[in-house]
Amino acid sequence: MRIVSLVLIILLSACSHTTKPSLYQQLGGEQGIAAITDGLLRAIEQDQRIVHHFVDTDIARFRRLLAEQLCNISGGPCQYTGGTMQQSHTGFNITLADYDALVENLINVMQQQNISISAQNQLLALLAPMYKDITYR
Ligand code: HEM
Repeated sequence: MRIVSLVLIILLSACSHTTKPSLYQQLGGEQGIAAITDGLLRAIEQDQRIVHHFVDTDIARFRRLLAEQLCNISGGPCQYTGGTMQQSHTGFNITLADYDALVENLINVMQQQNISISAQNQLLALLAPMYKDITYR
């Protein structure tokens, strides 16, 4: 019996060492993503380069959808229920400089929340290809 328990303990600890936490977990799960979303909204509010784009936005809805999207793309248990990035950003005339400004704010927020550099980079890599649908040319 003791041997069986010992084998089980060894197997379980081996598993916990080899299972890599998902990006969602590395971002702090639901709470971590809520904190990133809120931090980003506060930063946008104070960023004169981009805040004008959000004058007519329903912020509560935007907050909910952004959190859903960050959860979904990082492998969390969420459905994204908003529009496509192209649909949602068409007509706002968002430039690449605007996009970079938002990403700069996001990096600062993640840094303040002690998200590891590796997790930051994984999230940024998932968001980067979206610039094509978000910015206008
Ligand atoms: C990584 C980049 C970005 C992501 C992941 C993102 C994500 C989102 C999401 C999920 C929504 C809600 C979609 C919906 O309403 O159905 C949204 C809406 C919006 N986004 Fe972005 N966005 C990004 C970049 C930007 C940038 C750079 C700007 C402008 C500086 C911007 C301005 C807006 C505005 C104004 C809305 C609200 C549209 C409305 O009121 O109908 N977004 N975005």
